[in-house]
Amino acid sequence: MQDRTPRPEELEPVERAGVDELRALQLQRLRWSLRHAYDNVPHYRRAFEAAGVHPDDCRDLADLARFPFTGKAELRENYPFGMFAVPRERVARLHASSGTTGRPTVVGYTKQDLTTWARLMARSIRASGGRPGDRVHVAYGYGLFTGGLGAHYGAEELGCTVIPVSGGMTERQVLLIRDFEPEVIMVTPSYLLAIVDEMERQGVDPRTTSLRVGIFGAEPWTEDMRREIEQRLDMHAVDIYGLSEVMGPGVAVECVETKDGLHVWEDHFYPEIIDPVTGSVLPDGEQGELVLTSLTKEAMPVVRYRTRDLTRLLPGTARPMRRIEKITGRTDDMMIVRGVNVFPTQIEELILRTPALSPHFQCVLDRQGRLDGLTVRVERRPGVTPEEAERAGRALVEQVKNTIGVSVAVEVIAPDGVERSMGKMRRIVDHRRER
Ligand code: DLL
Repeated sequence: MQDRTPRPEELEPVERAGVDELRALQLQRLRWSLRHAYDNVPHYRRAFEAAGVHPDDCRDLADLARFPFTGKAELRENYPFGMFAVPRERVARLHASSGTTGRPTVVGYTKQDLTTWARLMARSIRASGGRPGDRVHVAYGYGLFTGGLGAHYGAEELGCTVIPVSGGMTERQVLLIRDFEPEVIMVTPSYLLAIVDEMERQGVDPRTTSLRVGIFGAEPWTEDMRREIEQRLDMHAVDIYGLSEVMGPGVAVECVETKDGLHVWEDHFYPEIIDPVTGSVLPDGEQGELVLTSLTKEAMPVVRYRTRDLTRLLPGTARPMRRIEKITGRTDDMMIVRGVNVFPTQIEELILRTPALSPHFQCVLDRQGRLDGLTVRVERRPGVTPEEAERAGRALVEQVKNTIGVSVAVEVIAPDGVERSMGKMRRIVDHRRER
């Protein structure tokens, strides 16, 4: 694989700032952000008062723990624009996350917020191995979803040639990759797999394309998936994280030279890890729920936003800013099967270690008598006989039992049997409440 490490002089000074300098900047910005939220968003004023805290009580970064959390529920209650801290006329753009039920969650950006976002995305793309002048194929969805436009403006800001393809029309994605020869692709990992399958169907060897770097996020994916993608495409596969409530993509990203977890851009976001049950702050290194506070956002500041994403905070490596470990899953994606907690990422790891099985899978939950049952539906790889596939299925049952400690059923199906997604893959199909 090509060396894509940015040169030190290409980095912004703050990317190399020492920890003390960074903490001082964070405290100064945090105090501004708390004050901004309190002064301009009735919800925050009420919530701070109910918790008996005032922005002036924040004298130290640790004081943030005294402030109340914000969750999706609060955003819904203030639908659509109640969480904005600036007059609506100053909001330059809206995005929204679909949400599985009912109202979407709406977020807003001032012009300045959009500039900050584009700069952070440019920083993220560079950290991932993108360079000015690269052609960047954006296959994240454009629209209310933050993936497409977030990637788009970041790549432009870095000085790249943007190819704004959006998701879907997989055959055409392959055509455009062949003809426009992008060095970088930005897409969900699950949709990338659909594109690679299509390349193979068209007789294109994925290792021979122009692609050098893939920047994948919007859903959890594992180290085993990284290995699969890097081998099949002969390119770097780098993880990017973000959420619309906090900004969109570009809150945290891996560095191509280390690929060891995602550096949080701590000059704009303050991360905490909490125990998801008690809400208490956990020390760095311990696994829990990621909570984020925006430090510079104007239109919609968020104070201690509960992401529901499970990870740990680790010290900086390629950059001094702290890292989050690759996300295991969301608290809402945790399946409890016969009393054992299981995440789709754990299943993904085991599938990818079984050569006859493809990475296209879903976890189907249903009632089996009085217990919850999990069936893993997974495709066999093309060229694998049904007999080999059946053996692989039995091996997977054993593997899940031995490593996760739970009995599941495995159904190995023919290639193309699992529905493809153009964006975020639906890993869990829950039939438990149906009759
Ligand atoms: O998914 C923003 C994004 C777009 C991130 C493109 C990266 C690339 P939402 O639709 O609001 O925003 O969904 C946010 O997606 O809380 C996580 O549960 C999940 N997620 C995002 N990135 C990752 C990642 C975008 N790298 C929710 N690994 C988050 C695991 C991720 N989960």
